[in-house]
Amino acid sequence: MKEIYQKIWELAKPYYEKGRPMDVDHIEWMIEDALLVCQKENLEDSLLLPLVILHDVGYAEVPKDNPYNLDLRKAHMDAGAKIAKKILEKVDYPANKVEKIVYYVSVHDNWALGDKSVYENNPILAVFSELDFIWMATPKGFAAIMEMLNKNKQEMFEYVRSRPEEEKILFSTKTTKRLYESYLNGRKKELN
Ligand SMILES: [Fe+2]
Ligand SMILES: [Fe+2]
Repeated sequence: MKEIYQKIWELAKPYYEKGRPMDVDHIEWMIEDALLVCQKENLEDSLLLPLVILHDVGYAEVPKDNPYNLDLRKAHMDAGAKIAKKILEKVDYPANKVEKIVYYVSVHDNWALGDKSVYENNPILAVFSELDFIWMATPKGFAAIMEMLNKNKQEMFEYVRSRPEEEKILFSTKTTKRLYESYLNGRKKELN
């Protein structure tokens, strides 16, 4: 990973340590798979990587409650945008990119608030959102969200399997589609 992303991660990590129990694992996994998608899809990483690293920092500064609560969702995006701005300015990230990344952090979970318009015609936010969803199919993400939603293994599997159809998630790249399918297969094998 480029040194600048390493620096951003070092500044962001203390916030994640104060966030949800799964957050450090969530971001460490996402950095790796985001780099893979950039490489395979020839996608620019200068917006996606900082967004991935910073998107959930805001959970450090919101009440510890069910993160699926809509007020909390909104609050972690607002708090996260402010923290992201501070961190990016500290590492002297290019100003025009800071503005974009901060905006992306402030709207990254808008689908949960019923607004999917931000992902349309925006390959960066689309890939980001797909990766954030795919986390639930990874070994650590599956276990963490299963506990958060109070589901058993079978119920959790069904939830992760059916969401793309129900929510009309169309994967925007071959790589994100493949990643989802291969993680889901892994969880399927663990069912019995
Ligand atoms: Fe989020
Ligand atoms: Fe996330």
